[in-house]
Amino acid sequence: MYPLKIDFEEEDFTELVSLLRNWASGEKIAKKFGISRNAVWKKIQRLKEMGFEVESKRRKGYKIVSQPDFSAISILEALKSINAERIVKRIYYYPETDSTNNRARNLESGSFVIARRQLSGKGRLGREWMSEKGGLYFSFVLEPPFGVEDVPKITLTAGVAVAESLADFNAKLKWPNDVLIHGKKVCGILSEISGEVERLKIIVGVGINVKNPVPEGATNLAAFNPEVSLNEVLKEVVRSFIDYYDRLCSGKWEEIRQRWIELSDTIGKKVKVNVAGKIYSGKAIGLDVDGGLLIESNGVEKIYSGDCFYI
Ligand code: BTN
Repeated sequence: MYPLKIDFEEEDFTELVSLLRNWASGEKIAKKFGISRNAVWKKIQRLKEMGFEVESKRRKGYKIVSQPDFSAISILEALKSINAERIVKRIYYYPETDSTNNRARNLESGSFVIARRQLSGKGRLGREWMSEKGGLYFSFVLEPPFGVEDVPKITLTAGVAVAESLADFNAKLKWPNDVLIHGKKVCGILSEISGEVERLKIIVGVGINVKNPVPEGATNLAAFNPEVSLNEVLKEVVRSFIDYYDRLCSGKWEEIRQRWIELSDTIGKKVKVNVAGKIYSGKAIGLDVDGGLLIESNGVEKIYSGDCFYI
């Protein structure tokens, strides 16, 4: 059983929810949790406020007949159903927080932080990441079996994992870490390093526009499928990420690099990349074995990070 941590705004309702999958009387619930009948009634009201539909019958008690699309409980169930325990050892759920990457900073590896909304979501290069309700905002804390020089590979691997899980939407990758649908950004990935050099910890933060409002020029999955479910997308992305991260850790980077190239929207395009003020422009011709983007103008240059524009 996952030790699910929930911040003070939402109590841990997991046990009550699993009890109410079947009919349970007020008396039974009161006994199980050591609370009064009145406190049971309050908990049921709270569940309803959280979006659960609870039926009540005189002799039988209470039973949940439907649950919200996205809650601490649904996240837990989604992750359990895909056996995420291999990588995700502990889940921290916040209805609202500043940034899941910030929350993840001091956590042990194996932590997974997810928020329904971020108040100061962080994008790359100090930008803001709009994080209204309806999107997916989560961060993995990983302790990879390799050094800091291979960190860009994790970000590229996460990109491949997300793009593959969104194959139905024909998602493509824009270097270094954007996922696009029909040329518009639907997901961003922000990897950050924490911990010491000997015990490197990487935070991989993923933001996916699902049903949330997005900035101009970006898109969300609901624009292509209004029925899209946050839980289903979460499951697919985490499943895919675990699979690809496993491959990366077992020395299969080359396979991932090939997949990145296949899914790439950038290779073959004319680009202008700003690397800390220095501009590289030319045709993107490949992703090198170490994860660097190869740009051809007068000769070939290789870059590892930067702000990339198509020209
Ligand atoms: C980008 O600029 O493309 C990267 C965006 C990364 C956003 C995600 S949302 C979850 C995690 N927490 C953050 O504050 N940022 C990342």
